[in-house]
Order: sequence, then C-alpha cells, then structure tokens
Amino acid sequence: MGHQVQKIVGKKSGGVKAQTAEIVQVREFEPADASEVQRIFSEGVLEMVVDTAFRGLKHHPESLLLYAAATAICFTITMSWWVIGLLPAMVCMRYFYSRCMIHSYLKQAMSTDMGDIEGYYMRSPGSCLWVAVLQGKVVGVVAASGRLGSSVELHRMSVDRSFRRYGVGAALGQKVLEFAASQGYSSVVLGTTAYTPAAHRLYRRLGFQCVGVTNGYVTPGVKQSFLEQIFYRVRHHHYSLNLQES
Ligand SMILES: CC(C)(COP(=O)(O)OP(=O)(O)OC[C@H]1O[C@@H](n2cnc3c(N)ncnc32)[C@H](O)[C@@H]1OP(=O)(O)O)[C@@H](O)C(=O)NCCC(=O)NCCS
Repeated sequence: MGHQVQKIVGKKSGGVKAQTAEIVQVREFEPADASEVQRIFSEGVLEMVVDTAFRGLKHHPESLLLYAAATAICFTITMSWWVIGLLPAMVCMRYFYSRCMIHSYLKQAMSTDMGDIEGYYMRSPGSCLWVAVLQGKVVGVVAASGRLGSSVELHRMSVDRSFRRYGVGAALGQKVLEFAASQGYSSVVLGTTAYTPAAHRLYRRLGFQCVGVTNGYVTPGVKQSFLEQIFYRVRHHHYSLNLQES
C-alpha cells in the first residue's frame, strides 16, 4: 500500500515545469538499499551539528549566562577589551564540540545497527527497518526496535533533504505504528535531541505526546569531559504514544 504524498513533486519536461502527484511506497529494507539508507541517515544526523551548536543556544539560557559570566570575569581580571572576542570564540567551541559528539554518535551507530541492518533489524523478531521509495529512489528511512516489556522504539528517522515536506516522514512513522499494533506492542516511544520544529511537528502529527524533557542529556554509556559538558548541552525530548488509547 502506498501513501499519496501531500505535495506536488515538480518534474521538468521540455523546459516546462510539469507537476505530477506521486505515491510514496514504504517497504522493508533490502540489502541493495544499504548505501542509500546509510547516506540518508548520516546526512540527517550531521545536520544536528549546526542545529545543536547554534539553534540550541537560544534554548539554553544557562549556557549563555555561563559564557557571558566567563567573559565578564576575564574582562574584570585583564581590563582589556579583547576579551569580548571570547564570546564568538565560545560559539565556535560549541560548534567544535557538537561536531565531535555527533560524529562519535554517528560512528557508533554505523559500527552497530546501521552497519549491519540485516542482523540488527531484519533478523530480529519485533524489530524492523523500512525505506520510503519515491520516483524509484530511496528517500527516507525509519527503524523500530522492540524493547523489553511491551513498548517498541521508533528511531533512525531521516528523509533525504530534497524530498522533505512531501509527507514521507509521516508515511514512515505511520508504518512503525502499524507494525507496533500488528506485533501486539502497547506503546511506541522515541527520543530526540533535535531543536528544529520538523521532528517535533512530525511526531505530534503522528499522535505522540511529549512525556518528559531532560535538560543536559547525556547519551547513555557516554562519558563527557568537562569541556564537552560546557559546550555540548542538549535537551532530550521523550515522546510516547499509547496504542491502547488510540
Ligand atoms: C524530521 C523529518 C524526518 C521530517 O520529514 P518530512 O518528510 O519532511 O516530514 P513530513 O513531510 O511528513 O511532515 C510531517 C509534519 O512535519 C511538518 N514539518 C516538516 N518539516 C517541517 C519544517 N521544516 N518546519 C515546520 N514543520 C515541518 C510538516 O508540516 C508536517 O506537519 P503538518 O502535517 O501538521 O503540516 C526530516 O525533516 C528529517 O529527516 N530531518 C533530519 C533528521 C531528523 O531530524 N530526524 C529526526 C531525528 S529524531
């Protein structure tokens, strides 16, 4: 079953921009999809560097206060105006540390589940990974991992940049909900550190509710150095959807 995409996909024909409504197909992963899936997932993860370093700043007044206080203290000690340059330097440090942390997250994902999709998702009962196909091209990915108990986790959601806002993310999310219901899970959970409205809007549209926010979230099992704690600060939103209520 395919989902009609919400928007019209433009196609050039004879120099004139013709418009055709397309159907997005969501199907299970096949080994030949691996490189496209990894590309779309990696590009989506790497977008988080700028998102975390810059957009995230306005969501963390405590970090802004800390950077301003450090600059003011340096100014009081040195009485030199050059310390004003510390503020942009700290923003660069945010970029640097976000980049390091997100690259190491990506590396870890690629050396585990995203490096062996067959083994982690397709051969594990209760888990699966799907791709969205539009115009014969893989344009999106999402995974579901069965957890202990009665919930399943939606993760690895990413849509190719050129095919965003066509309803692809919603079609992928819907597939996870159908899978969860068919496998008898009572809830679907997910977590995101994204600051962009896209991810939050998508999950709310699918019926998820935000059930908690962790400020200063640290990925389980990851040890952050002092500088990483100062310059890489993220908020983690926990979303849940109870299938027995919907
Ligand atoms: C989040 C993401 C998967 C959304 O995919 P998509 O195919 O563009 O989403 P859809 O077209 O199905 O849109 C779903 C909803 O989100 C909204 N939305 C999508 N992009 C948006 C944006 N940039 N700003 C505001 N709303 C946005 C849509 O309007 C729609 O809501 P509506 O039906 O109420 O209008 C995509 O932006 C992405 O891959 N981002 C990078 C990776 C990422 O952040 N993944 C999630 C990490 S947890």
